[in-house]
Amino acid sequence: MAQLSPVPTTRAAVRWSLGHALPRTLLRRAARQGDLHGRMFVATQSADLAALEPVLDELRTHGAFYRGKFAAVSVDNAAVRALLSHPDAGSAFGPGDAAGRIARLQEWAMADAPLGPLTPPSLLVTEPPDHTRYRKLVSRVFSVRAVERLRARTQEIADELLEALDPADPVDLVSTYCSLLPVTVIAEILGVPEADRQKVLRFGAAAAPSLDLGLSWREFRRVEASLRDFDEWLGQHLDNLRREPGDNLLSQLVSAQEDGVHLTDAELRSTAGLVLAAGFETTVNLLGNGISLLAGHPDQRALLAERPDLWANAVDEVLRLDPPVLLTGRMATADLEVEGVSIPRGAVMVGMLVGANRDPAVFADPTRFDVTRENARDHVSFSAGRHYCLGAALARMEGEVGLRSLFERFPDLRVERGAVRRSTRILRGYEHLPVTLRP
Ligand code: HEM
Repeated sequence: MAQLSPVPTTRAAVRWSLGHALPRTLLRRAARQGDLHGRMFVATQSADLAALEPVLDELRTHGAFYRGKFAAVSVDNAAVRALLSHPDAGSAFGPGDAAGRIARLQEWAMADAPLGPLTPPSLLVTEPPDHTRYRKLVSRVFSVRAVERLRARTQEIADELLEALDPADPVDLVSTYCSLLPVTVIAEILGVPEADRQKVLRFGAAAAPSLDLGLSWREFRRVEASLRDFDEWLGQHLDNLRREPGDNLLSQLVSAQEDGVHLTDAELRSTAGLVLAAGFETTVNLLGNGISLLAGHPDQRALLAERPDLWANAVDEVLRLDPPVLLTGRMATADLEVEGVSIPRGAVMVGMLVGANRDPAVFADPTRFDVTRENARDHVSFSAGRHYCLGAALARMEGEVGLRSLFERFPDLRVERGAVRRSTRILRGYEHLPVTLRP
């Protein structure tokens, strides 16, 4: 666990106040006044999607966008796609034009912020032309074709992990399987030594709440401390690769930097850190959510046993119904129009990925788990547009190999009492998933 720095800076206190305390207070107040965006925020504080469902249904009655006090929120599949693909819907958040003093305060407060997934120059909050430049450097490694070459190795890793489980005892599949499969694969792609993998997993888990809004002061400080530890480790790791390059993506990035591709140290660490953390912090949830859904639907498992060609589609159906990333946000960088709705410059927009995935205009009987669903792939769990998940092909492949190998080996596995959802709000999955492998 990361050590909290003994004296938090005033800047950190301002970052927390503007980024967490204030939005939390305002959204809770708005919720009490009936604002659906506020109610959505409150409902996402529960780990159970059931708390969110009635709010999603109400949001849907407002058409393409619900205009809340602080944001326009969409649960409409076409509108979410259009929003995420809109050139004037930017992924970076600022206080907007109106708030000159707050803007200056925020800029001042960010001066000693640690690098994180939502701080520039992270791909997630960068826009063209920089975004295009960073993405080009890493995208080749994650193309569908490149990922297919990793399938056999992923299968080996899955088999080794499953072999190591003791079928006589209940096991927690999150710590023994769901988390280890993706971290091993991405660590091999990036050249992270085996000895560092547990450390990297711990950094990732501790930093995962950095995507959430409304953290307590304590949580916020712990997250910032973990991000700093992660960045320090990454800096050392990149130095090692500079001295001793290997056949891996990070060595390629380091040499690209040295070969005159203009990539600053912060850009290099940010891109490398995001790819590494995104490479396991989300897929662990896909695997856990998939195990839980399949364990609860013996009819669907039976279908997959009969028709293994359905596994790829089953993974998309899991992603659709229980998405590992709940929502994403954008800010209008100009007055814009999405699906006929006018949105003014500076407005915040929230795309509820989970809502778009349950849009009845696209998915018949949307809350039903159906591995044969023909358009399961039309979900937006990997986002859309220029920020479309770089690791989508890898995640799909890992999901397919991971779930299929587990259920083929242990077709009757049963989830036991004691399953616990993670406390993160944007990233959704299981913290513990105890199962009996051979009941
Ligand atoms: C089931 C697993 C995964 C899910 C559900 C997921 C979901 C997402 C989503 C929703 C976004 C875009 C957010 C936005 O538009 O604001 C995204 C971006 C990204 N993902 Fe994934 N992801 C997964 C796995 C992975 C893996 C395995 C990698 C490893 C390479 C990865 C790397 C990235 C990167 C680098 C971005 C930033 C892309 C950009 O901004 O251009 N993801 N992911």
